[in-house]
Amino acid sequence: MNIKYLQVKNFRNIEKCQIEPCENVNVIFGQNAQGKTNLLESIWLFTGCRSFRGSKDSEMINFNSNKAVLDMDFFAFDRDYSAHLEIGEGRKFMLGGVKKTTSEVMGNFLSVVFSPVHLSLVKDGPYERRRFLDIAISQLKPKYGVTLSQYNKAIQQRNILLKDIVYHSELYDTLDIWEDRIAFYGAEIVRQRLGYINKLSSYSHEIYSGLSSGKEHLTIGYDQQTVIAGESKQELYDNLKNQLYQSRKNDLTTGFTSVGPHRDDLSIKIDSLMARNYGSQGQQRSAALALKLGEAAVVRSFSGEQPVALLDDVMSELDETRQNYILNHIKDWQVFITCCDPNNVRNLKSGKKFEMKNGKVK
Ligand SMILES: Nc1ncnc2c1ncn2[C@@H]1O[C@H](COP(=O)(O)OP(=O)(O)OP(=O)(O)O)[C@@H](O)[C@H]1O
Ligand SMILES: [Mg+2]
Repeated sequence: MNIKYLQVKNFRNIEKCQIEPCENVNVIFGQNAQGKTNLLESIWLFTGCRSFRGSKDSEMINFNSNKAVLDMDFFAFDRDYSAHLEIGEGRKFMLGGVKKTTSEVMGNFLSVVFSPVHLSLVKDGPYERRRFLDIAISQLKPKYGVTLSQYNKAIQQRNILLKDIVYHSELYDTLDIWEDRIAFYGAEIVRQRLGYINKLSSYSHEIYSGLSSGKEHLTIGYDQQTVIAGESKQELYDNLKNQLYQSRKNDLTTGFTSVGPHRDDLSIKIDSLMARNYGSQGQQRSAALALKLGEAAVVRSFSGEQPVALLDDVMSELDETRQNYILNHIKDWQVFITCCDPNNVRNLKSGKKFEMKNGKVK
């Protein structure tokens, strides 16, 4: 998958710019606040998702305009696409001149983004990592999103019940209904997460080895607060159901469901040490990047298409060896990299460089 042409109009500080990127590494450099991240954000929107910065659509329209207009030609799934996106009052998408809804657009242009906010994947608490896992799996298997929301509803119901039983002991027997649902959906969540992590870990391991020139090893795994083991879905269900039953006494005192995949985490270790607690800044950044690029590799294994990688400000804190790996060893991918210091990219062997200045590309 690769972008051949991009035109951005009235998007944030970019009044008008056009680029024709190359098929591999494209570097966008320039001083702070010139519009580098804005340009990546405009590309990202063609995935159909919300801004990776968490911005509202209205915030992305240039202050002097009432509509941002984006056009992109890209090659994917053995054919050329021409996509058009207007952001005004709502979004208007067109593919090949035909109007499309957001859900129809999803899955045509594939991309993964790494931005400094993704460092929270390594640095912050388990919530961020569960979210990363759940979003990544839902994108590959939309049914997983439905399972997840059913599971969360069942957990909420059990938690409400745990608090009510204190005053209405006759409700005790209804715990079984919700535990059955939690075990049913929870078993599927555990199964899907294990399968996904299994794939992701081997790709991320390989990428991290490349980044560190084979000197360090990244291991990721599924970290279950309470181990729900089992080969089959039935075994996982039985196990989880039993654990929920065992935890009743404890959960009735706290009013909170203590077992199940809503408590689990993704463990990220560099040479056997938890990256969150022991990793240096460069190691944490490398680990987050390896996870995101690993995510792209899993998407490729499912869809047959390599998503376009958008790497925002990835070079800072990385030494020259790691920078060189990103610039010259990520093969067969179209990658967009932003950085401030053009010295960071002096070792770029092939690829294109664009200077972003005051919302204009030179
Ligand atoms: N809707 C908007 N209209 C006009 N300008 C905007 C709008 N939204 C953001 N900007 C401006 O865009 C500028 C550039 O933002 P951007 O995040 O792309 O910078 P950058 O080149 O990535 O800088 P850095 O190197 O600091 O990350 C910001 O200074 C901001 O004020
Ligand atoms: Mg930026």
